Amino acid sequence: MNKANPGRLDPEGRVIMLTGANRGIGAAIAARLRGDGYRLSLGARSPGDIVAAAGDDCLHAHFDAMDPESPKLWAAATVAHFGRIDGLINNAGVAASFGFEDGDEADLDRMLEVNLKAPYRLIRAALPQLRASGSGGIVNITSLAGMRFKRGSPGHAMSKFAPMGLSSAARSLLWDDGIRVTAVAPGPVNTDMMPNAGGLKRDDATQPETIADVVAMVLAMPNNASVATVPINAMNEPLP
Ligand SMILES: NC(=O)c1ccc[n+]([C@@H]2O[C@H](COP(=O)([O-])OP(=O)(O)OC[C@H]3O[C@@H](n4cnc5c(N)ncnc54)[C@H](OP(=O)(O)O)[C@@H]3O)[C@@H](O)[C@H]2O)c1
Repeated sequence: MNKANPGRLDPEGRVIMLTGANRGIGAAIAARLRGDGYRLSLGARSPGDIVAAAGDDCLHAHFDAMDPESPKLWAAATVAHFGRIDGLINNAGVAASFGFEDGDEADLDRMLEVNLKAPYRLIRAALPQLRASGSGGIVNITSLAGMRFKRGSPGHAMSKFAPMGLSSAARSLLWDDGIRVTAVAPGPVNTDMMPNAGGLKRDDATQPETIADVVAMVLAMPNNASVATVPINAMNEPLP
């Protein structure tokens, strides 16, 4: 309980694991959560590239979503360093073209590994610690591409619809353990991954810092105020 504000969890002492912390949305989330006072375990393929958040309260760890052993090793390193895990943010992702008549199935496999299987493996690896927290939080950065198909890559859509199922199952099955799960589903965001969304200019796309604000908000929610899904769009269209 946060005595100063019972409507929010107190970040002090809470340890958050975040994937893809080296650039894009992940870097914005890292900077925001560091500013809020969390202790961060930041995962990246090249931990030396993580510049958004550094200091004694941050662990820069190796994490490769393509390696099935990596989640276990990183979770163990986080516990060895901080002694606990209170939150997990599955942010790392990849997008590639894969259609009904084109595309390399290796790209589909890569999207399923990074966008779906690695988040599942990380939840599994962090689960004992998230349970022990009593107010564990999981935020999966999914996509509007995982809520409705509009344009682009069917393979990418498949790899982003599936984590919505992961989020839904985790939210339901882990509820009684005091773990709250939210899927944050952006439309076009101004990062290296931003799709060509109907000629949308970069300045008019959602900015990564806005996604970071949303993540910070849901992560700080106490167990009695869980949000299942947050769709965020920069464009005017009916939301699913
Ligand atoms: N930008 C958008 O328009 C948009 C829209 C909807 C949803 N999203 C979602 O938001 C999340 C963040 O995307 P972003 O926009 O920040 O994209 P980004 O700038 O391309 O960053 C992608 C991040 O994922 C990491 N990553 C990729 N493959 C990895 C692997 N095998 N192991 C570990 N990390 C890996 C990258 O690390 P490296 O630097 O090592 O490659 C990088 O940190 C993704 O899940 C994405 O699907 C983005």
